[in-house]
Amino acid sequence: MYKHLLRPLLFKLDPEFTHDLTLEWLSKAGKLSPVISLLRRLYSDRVRDLPVNLMGLHFPGPVGLAAGLDKEARCITALSAFGFSHLELGTVTPNPQPGNPTPRIFRLPRHLAIINRMGFNSGGIKPFLENIARTKKTIPLGVNLGKNAHTPIEQAAEDYILGLKQLYLYADYFTINISSPNTKNLRDLQSEDALDDLLKKIMKTRKDLADDFKRTVPVAVKIAPDIENNSIPGFAALLVKHKIDAVIATNTTIDHSSVADSEHADEAGGLSGMPLRDRANEVVALLYQELQGKVPIIGVGGIFNTEDAWQRMLAGAEMVQIYSSFIYNGPGIVREIVNGLAKRVEASGAASLQVAVEKERAKSRFITS
Ligand SMILES: Cc1cc2nc3c(=O)[nH]c(=O)nc-3n(C[C@H](O)[C@H](O)[C@H](O)COP(=O)(O)O)c2cc1C
Repeated sequence: MYKHLLRPLLFKLDPEFTHDLTLEWLSKAGKLSPVISLLRRLYSDRVRDLPVNLMGLHFPGPVGLAAGLDKEARCITALSAFGFSHLELGTVTPNPQPGNPTPRIFRLPRHLAIINRMGFNSGGIKPFLENIARTKKTIPLGVNLGKNAHTPIEQAAEDYILGLKQLYLYADYFTINISSPNTKNLRDLQSEDALDDLLKKIMKTRKDLADDFKRTVPVAVKIAPDIENNSIPGFAALLVKHKIDAVIATNTTIDHSSVADSEHADEAGGLSGMPLRDRANEVVALLYQELQGKVPIIGVGGIFNTEDAWQRMLAGAEMVQIYSSFIYNGPGIVREIVNGLAKRVEASGAASLQVAVEKERAKSRFITS
């Protein structure tokens, strides 16, 4: 129904208008229990249980919603009814900021892709906190933290620390977003010296908060696909050194060469969707080579079906997230991917998805060695 009825209508409208309208509907739907019951019957109830244990958390399934869709935590109830295993909310910045001037989202339907240069439009922590605090959660909620545009990059740690402190009670895990291409110099924080210093400060704050609240909230770091391959070992070593709980790979790419023939290809911003798939897979594989399970990987970028998710897991991911395929395929995509994975687990005779993936990884190691 989504692809044939709703999407053609929505895609006639300006992308950001459609985005805002959809979020408004979802936010309203969340307050109407008969609508939520219906959405659950149509979607989450039909998603098979395929639990994943990661970062000390229990996820009911392997497919979560990637950051950027629900930046203000307004639609938790409705989005949870679609069968996602978790929602990554945000990016939220400490203070409100408008982001970049519009237009700033572009669809490239022939490539099943999106270019965005939103630039962390955010209502700030205050409304985010109010929204998340008043919602009854049914699945783990990640909080993706960013820095304000006017905060000098040398003081970025202070913004992340503010986010950790103010939202500590409400997050199941945090993501430190140092990989958005749309905030000036943000990705410089991925360089070794800057990252070492940032992670030291963040993990010290997390330790203090864990002591105060007697609860350790995991911290993940989100990486850009545009990182040089030869920088990945150093990046991975810092994740291990600072005992980061997970790495999320990847954010959007500034490399638009794969869509050069398309309208909007020249728009500045991060490219997501199908053209990102292979590079995101490669980054996961390179990270896994270095990390060998010491820091779990959450794979994101161009996952459109069961095979994409399976390949991402074989490359090294423990769990995946989606954004663009949700826009192109609608909420039924979660069920399609998860139930497809459940069938593969069944066929392999393994007791869990993680065991099935490990079995398959071991086979390919055997074949290639
Ligand atoms: C419109 C749009 C806004 C996004 N905003 C954020 C964001 O605020 N923070 C973030 O970490 N990632 C953001 N992302 C990146 C996604 O979380 C994801 O990493 C990326 O889109 C690749 O996944 P996909 O190919 O499934 O879309 C955004 C993506 C899109 C398309």
